Amino acid sequence: MSGGCRCTRKLTLAMSGCVIILVIALTVGLCVGLGGDDEVKREDTPKFTIDHEANTFLLDGEPFQYVSGSFHYFRALPDAWRSRLQTMRASGLNALDTYIEWSLHNPHDGVYNWEGIADVVKFLEMAQEEGFYIVLRPGPYICAERDNGGLPHWLFTKYPNIKVRTNDSNYLAEVEKWYDILMPRIQHLFIGNGGKIIMVQVENEYGAFDACDHDYLNWLRDETEKHVSGNALLFTVDIPNERMSCGKIENVFATTDFGIDRIHEIDEIWKMLRNLQPTGPLVNSEFYPGWLTHWQEENQRRDGQVVADALKTILSYNASVNLYMFFGGTNFGFTAGANWNLDGGIGYAADVTSYDYDAVMDEAGGVTSKYELVKKAIGELWTLPEITLTPAKRLSYGKVELTPSLQLLSSEGRAALSKGVPVESEKPKTFEELDQYSGLVLYETTLPDMDLDPALLKVEQINDRAQVFVDQELVGTLSREANIYALPLSKGWGSTLQLLVENQGRVNYDLLNDTKGIFGDVSLQLHNGGYLTLENWKSTSFPLEEAAVASWLKQRTNKELDSLITRQRILRNGPILYSGTVKVDEIGDTYLNMAGWGKGVAYVNGFNLGRYWPVAGPQVTLYVPNELLKVGDNSIAILEYQRANKTTSGTDLPAVQFDAVAQLDGQSGDVKK
Ligand SMILES: *[C@@H]1O[C@H](CO)[C@@H](O)[C@H](O)[C@H]1NC(C)=O
Ligand SMILES: *[C@@H]1O[C@H](CO)[C@@H](O)[C@H](O)[C@H]1NC(C)=O
Ligand SMILES: *[C@@H]1O[C@H](CO)[C@@H](O)[C@H](O)[C@H]1NC(C)=O
Ligand SMILES: *[C@@H]1O[C@H](CO)[C@@H](O)[C@H](O)[C@H]1NC(C)=O
Repeated sequence: MSGGCRCTRKLTLAMSGCVIILVIALTVGLCVGLGGDDEVKREDTPKFTIDHEANTFLLDGEPFQYVSGSFHYFRALPDAWRSRLQTMRASGLNALDTYIEWSLHNPHDGVYNWEGIADVVKFLEMAQEEGFYIVLRPGPYICAERDNGGLPHWLFTKYPNIKVRTNDSNYLAEVEKWYDILMPRIQHLFIGNGGKIIMVQVENEYGAFDACDHDYLNWLRDETEKHVSGNALLFTVDIPNERMSCGKIENVFATTDFGIDRIHEIDEIWKMLRNLQPTGPLVNSEFYPGWLTHWQEENQRRDGQVVADALKTILSYNASVNLYMFFGGTNFGFTAGANWNLDGGIGYAADVTSYDYDAVMDEAGGVTSKYELVKKAIGELWTLPEITLTPAKRLSYGKVELTPSLQLLSSEGRAALSKGVPVESEKPKTFEELDQYSGLVLYETTLPDMDLDPALLKVEQINDRAQVFVDQELVGTLSREANIYALPLSKGWGSTLQLLVENQGRVNYDLLNDTKGIFGDVSLQLHNGGYLTLENWKSTSFPLEEAAVASWLKQRTNKELDSLITRQRILRNGPILYSGTVKVDEIGDTYLNMAGWGKGVAYVNGFNLGRYWPVAGPQVTLYVPNELLKVGDNSIAILEYQRANKTTSGTDLPAVQFDAVAQLDGQSGDVKK
């Protein structure tokens, strides 16, 4: 292989190395056979280990260094995996880093998914074929800016008070069950079993988590090792700060993570790591060439030259390094997470759909000027492989008019897109109680006779956003992001109160019980200064899963909607599903430009591209992978919650546009080169 750092194969194991290998073997389990093709074999020597004297990894007894890139299979379509991997390999990377997302593979209790985008074994095998070693990060908590940090929502359905990432026996039992199903599928890929997985992570940035529960960490180490059996190296990753020791696990190799903003303190960072672990190779497991972006903030950009220079600095310490993200991709569907209480004290902030991340490659897998600079830096370390890339074309398909086709809150809309009969209960049911991953839940109750005009409606907590209707007329919006939990209602507006609550993404970091729906009391102000708690609720699930939208599109009658509804610019009677067709002559990557629309979710050929919210920004376009398109007619469905792209005067239909360039930096922002 041309990765550079593996030299000739002569096995000269230093005695100290052996001792350390033995120590590791004793603590993490048995040393097992190598099963390689080498002429020199040592039955008791792991293929991949650590030389604590030379402070380096050893691969087959030879010093080894890696420069890896993160690419999460669940953020690109399977038909795009190989070209992304080849583009990464062409930059000189010799290793690939990926998380495994529990919630993708185990969407409901007892239900497993290993097909298509969830075919992680196929992905890992493909990475091996493309010449990568693999750094595997199975979590089970992964953060990753994904809904709930990758933990399945149904953990809260099954155990409402579960304390995830701790010694909670319910959590441990579920993790054990999950690893018993996952690990046998990937075992053959561990380096000791003839595959290319050199390292397996235990937990993820655990030091940053308040619990600091070492019983749990030790248990998870043993549980992971039960499956790895010395056939790959266990490791941890922790943010370099005073909480680092909360993430350190005895007998597990420790690494750290930092980006360009902390490169000036690299010596202090290595010192922190050395305090935790005096010897062994230095590893930055998450070197950030970009950063994540939330809605309603500026798109995060990082300068390519600064990134390349920082990479060279890290490599000058002989460190191994993973670029997080090398290729970011997309949070398709409802998979984007959220953050909580970030620096600056803001509360809840949802992550955008794009995970472009200003990574080394762009969201569509294309090379950028940052890519060329990073490639050059890696080229100073070892010889780059010769790989010819054939990037997909990026095409504009122009303007497409959309027809208002279905009103979500009408009886037809409920029949088509809700999960069935509403659940009746004294208090509103949470998404988790309804075993609902995402989408919307409609909460309805009868308003009492009001003795004030207006009277304040108060909700203790909404996760995360509610459109409020009385008799299906919009009266306002409540929002966790904006900390708005009350609005006035006028006497005589009607008798049915309706709150349509959107899950904007479960928090992925630190706060890990971010269940969704309405919490605490919903109450109405009284003349005597008190509040009346509203009870007897009907909760209706709208999971907005692809199959439901696709099947409605297929079976629908072309019945026209009421012309009053059709002419609406502000959707005063609830979300509307708009549908249309884009004609494609030549297939390419494209971007669905949502300028002029409000907030919602978009489907192309039945595939959920993700949430859009151009009025908030900064993301304006949704990436449409070429793999979704076919020559001829392609269907578009837009479920808009708030506002149609329409002029006040015009009688024309609202429209979207398919552009050849992404717009991630706001309506007037720069376009990424
Ligand atoms: C962790 O759980 C085990 C088994 O339930 C128990 O023996 C142990 O005391 C627990 N440790 C802590 C810190 O709760
Ligand atoms: C890096 O490794 C080389 C070759 O083994 C060695 O000469 C050099 O001193 C090392 N540099 C650092 C900073 O450890
Ligand atoms: C989540 O956990 C925190 C801290 O343990 C607790 O205060 C809060 O009530 C919990 N929230 C939910 C919705 O269970
Ligand atoms: C509606 O979309 C079209 C096509 O993308 C765009 O040109 C137009 O500016 C949008 N209209 C409004 C009112 O924003």
